Amino acid sequence: MDNRVIVFDTTLRDGEQSPGASMTPSEKLRLAHALDELGVDVMEAGFPVSSPDDFLSVQEIARNVRRPVIAALARTRPGDIDRAGEALSNAERPRIHVFIATSRVHLERKLGISEEECLEQAAQAVERARRYTDDVEFSAEDATRTELPFLCKVVQTAVDAGATTVNIPDTVGYSHPREIAEYFRTLRAEVRGIDGVILSVHCHNDLGLATANSLAALEAGARQVECTINGIGERAGNAALEEVVMALRVRRDILDLDTNITTERIHPTSRLLTQITGIHPQPNKAIVGRNAFAHEAGIHQDGMLKERSTYEIMEPSMVGVPGSRLVLGKHSGRHALKARYRDLGYEVDKEDLDRAYKLFKLLADQKKDILDEDILAILHHGTTDDIPITFGLEKMKVECGGQWSYSDLVLEVKGKGLMEGKGKGDGPIAAAFDAVDQLVGWPVELGDLTIRAATPGRDAVGEVTLRAKVAGKTFTGRGASTDVVDAAVRAYLHALNKAAHARQLESEALERTGQGQGQTWGV
Ligand code: KIV
Ligand code: ZN
Repeated sequence: MDNRVIVFDTTLRDGEQSPGASMTPSEKLRLAHALDELGVDVMEAGFPVSSPDDFLSVQEIARNVRRPVIAALARTRPGDIDRAGEALSNAERPRIHVFIATSRVHLERKLGISEEECLEQAAQAVERARRYTDDVEFSAEDATRTELPFLCKVVQTAVDAGATTVNIPDTVGYSHPREIAEYFRTLRAEVRGIDGVILSVHCHNDLGLATANSLAALEAGARQVECTINGIGERAGNAALEEVVMALRVRRDILDLDTNITTERIHPTSRLLTQITGIHPQPNKAIVGRNAFAHEAGIHQDGMLKERSTYEIMEPSMVGVPGSRLVLGKHSGRHALKARYRDLGYEVDKEDLDRAYKLFKLLADQKKDILDEDILAILHHGTTDDIPITFGLEKMKVECGGQWSYSDLVLEVKGKGLMEGKGKGDGPIAAAFDAVDQLVGWPVELGDLTIRAATPGRDAVGEVTLRAKVAGKTFTGRGASTDVVDAAVRAYLHALNKAAHARQLESEALERTGQGQGQTWGV
């Protein structure tokens, strides 16, 4: 049996289903390029029928990312499959991924269909998907709570209908390593023609067993593993790509399996996802947590100084954690900044470097030593995004300390020019947001505002992440500055600029399809 494991990344689909992890099409494209560099074999770019944005993202990724297989998800409904096929029409290596639930509880209580109907739908869906591509994956949702004899029948049906990959999801993270291994062994023994297809495993982490279950399935014959960066995903998340990949690499002596992942790209990719979604891995998260390679106890530090392998099972550089925290300052030039980005794993183009350098100079006036975290915060700063600016911050003054805070703010509003607003609130951020609300004039529901110091020290760069719900859709905004009120306003405007852009795309799409006049939301 082949000892190469296919890495199927689903950060852009299952990962995006994480609460608060929604990404815009341009953010998804950026992440897709990073996943390509990371070396994933397959990336699931989205679920095209679920929204116009998802369709657009899959289409854009399929056009622009040419090396890996690009997968699109579809239920067994003909409309879903056609939409997936359409979104992938320009892909170099398209895959349609169809799924249907197979467990009794899902069949009876969710779908209201019989086992026979389930088999029929599975066969028809795989056959329909094969009209678009020879690469068709079939998933039996909630497979690990499906009685094994029926699961064997479902898989047999999918294989006979032409599926080339069969995926066994532990949808609710219920399985145990011993049990999931038994499922894979049974399928391999019972299903005719199974050796001609790739068996895949897809685990959720509800019991904290996603990585262990994935490894057990690989040991029992799976050759594709489905996972996400930082383990993001529904509820407790999916199996974390970095954990599965590094467990295989570091303990190759146990399973003798390996992947095509360029492990040095793990850390930069994890950082990029964090910056896009604002969701930071827990500090003690394996491989990518802030403390994953930190040694606190004196005995450990002493051991490390004498011989790293006393307490270190892999070198941080293996997963792309920057070795030295080289400090830049006021006199550092553009070349030094570019070189540092390269050391940190980012190839920055001229446009991004120009913007980052401008912010770097501003920061250098406020802060003596600039650390790696600072320059990464700058690189991913809200304003360096490729979202068109509808609302730009020109000037802001905030007065606080008394019972109320007051703000004076000037925005450059697209099509309207400079607009001045005043606000009041029970704190400086609330006062500044009040002024923004008055100028923008939209009902905005604000959620999950977090402020985090990107670096240690009093002059730390503060990173603000927030979520703003506008007209039923949630947008993530980010801002970074040594002044947290400034960072918060930038984060707020970042989210509102995304909302304006989404609205514009939506009205253009409606106009194109003749479904109505484009709306302007008052801007
Ligand atoms: O967890 C799951 O069952 C899924 C399927 C759609 C593959 O994500
Ligand atoms: Zn899933």
